[in-house]
Amino acid sequence: MERPKQGSKERWRKTKAVSSDRAEVRGAAATPAAKTVLKTLDRVISKAGVASRTLAQRWIAQGRVKVNGKTVKDAEQWVDLKKDKVLLDGKPLEPKEKVYLLLYKPKGYLTTRTDPDGRPTIYDLLTGMKEWVFPVGRLDQDTSGLLILTNDSALAEQLTNPEYHVPKTYMVKTAHLLSDEQIEALRRGVELKDGPTRPAEVKRLRDSGQRTFLEITITEGRNRQVRRMVEEIGSKVLKLVRVSIGELRIGGLQIGHVRALEAGELKALRRAGRKVGMQEAGASDGG
Ligand code: URA
Repeated sequence: MERPKQGSKERWRKTKAVSSDRAEVRGAAATPAAKTVLKTLDRVISKAGVASRTLAQRWIAQGRVKVNGKTVKDAEQWVDLKKDKVLLDGKPLEPKEKVYLLLYKPKGYLTTRTDPDGRPTIYDLLTGMKEWVFPVGRLDQDTSGLLILTNDSALAEQLTNPEYHVPKTYMVKTAHLLSDEQIEALRRGVELKDGPTRPAEVKRLRDSGQRTFLEITITEGRNRQVRRMVEEIGSKVLKLVRVSIGELRIGGLQIGHVRALEAGELKALRRAGRKVGMQEAGASDGG
């Protein structure tokens, strides 16, 4: 898979650790000043929007990257963005124009770049695209719906970092007819093996035979979160479709199709990613 394997949370922590500057610094920027902006070489390349960190690491190992005139093969080397000159294939790292796409991911597609078992991936739906883009967060293979693709790692971080409480809404079909108590438990939050879930907004849309159709809005985005929440209250998800992230909606986009975000949609997305302080978080949870 070409996009960074680390979760956004880990990347977030790493950035913080780097800027606190207690780490051992070697190579180009060996004596960091207090406010020096240091990043590892692979991160510098991915931040420029030209490749994922994994791909950048490959390029670095292949000797395609120079720092201050010297080939560097260590992706972990610290780079001072203010002082150090990074060249890729002899050319300065030009920040690429940012690309923002909305894909209606069909069920059955992976959100990885490649799959060793040959299963279809979302990149099969992006043929002819020149720019490198990566998905903002993941959807399970069996989940369909709204997926943002971009080369803007700052926005991606904002949208996927749970501290920003960006609401993501899903339509859910459950394997049983759910009681009001079960739905209330989803609203309050349930205990999962990686901790309790935040309060969620849950609407019963309709019941049909032995199935319940729900709309669930969560502000986290842990692995398989909605499926695990529904399992925790004693049922199972039969169908899961993400219909919105913040104010961005899947709307009338056809399944398997992709389109560019409009300026207003992008603006609204940027607003959606507001970091919520601890006190505010308690007050605004559920949305
Ligand atoms: N919750 C899930 O269980 N799966 C997804 O793909 C997204 C949210």
